[in-house]
Amino acid sequence: MTETSAASVFGVDIGGSGIKGAPVDLARGVLAQERHKVLTPHPASPEAVVAAVREVVQHFDHHGPVGLTFPGVVVGGHTRTAANVDKGWIGLDAAGLFRESLDLPAVVLNDADAAGLAEITHGAGRGRDGVVLVLTFGTGIGSALFVDGALVPNTELGHLEMRGKDAERRASAAARERHELTWAEWAVRVDEYLDLVERLFSPQLIVIGGGASRKHDKFLPLLSPREAEVVPAVLRNDAGIVGAAMAAAAAR
Ligand code: BGC
Repeated sequence: MTETSAASVFGVDIGGSGIKGAPVDLARGVLAQERHKVLTPHPASPEAVVAAVREVVQHFDHHGPVGLTFPGVVVGGHTRTAANVDKGWIGLDAAGLFRESLDLPAVVLNDADAAGLAEITHGAGRGRDGVVLVLTFGTGIGSALFVDGALVPNTELGHLEMRGKDAERRASAAARERHELTWAEWAVRVDEYLDLVERLFSPQLIVIGGGASRKHDKFLPLLSPREAEVVPAVLRNDAGIVGAAMAAAAAR
């Protein structure tokens, strides 16, 4: 067990393949200790995920607030949708559940919103006013919309309609793998998606995050020039954990 100070804040990122957590250095926007990861249980039912989260948090001797990400709409700690996770989460008081099981203060927010908070404060969107859109390309497409640094939560732009389908079905990183697309073929789909969000929101800056951002050099250079500046995320894998801890600290 690794000790954390009583005042420290902990972030947990609940993803499709792994549940990762660490105490966070909020001043610097980095993990304060090496993160601990367990595999996401399948099915990812609320009971199974809560048990996995407890294992991650209890790996550390942590006694402060905990922020957790969830890959769906979260309003007032209640999980409202579950596009890529177990449907048992729909309508659940997730924050209440985590609070009870961890016996610690807990807040829950959308995964892309968490990644966005980390990027806008410590990463690629730092110091940027106006409309900034952080998009995460992974199993789905997540979105975090900022206006002068303030988050508009739960925008769910992965579910915009593109060619009669949910955009994330065509343009997520998982769609690239599922359809065995080359980077160039996938870039065409990402371009079409960025056209759509640009038409709707006219962002000055688009930050590309999520699993795909690790390989940004493979596809960002293939995208067409556009009005918005398009840049890769800076925090990559840690953005969700850092953003979750930021949300927990803000709720204190
Ligand atoms: C969900 C979003 C989530 C995104 C990335 C989408 O399917 O609806 O809430 O942010 O996937 O995980």
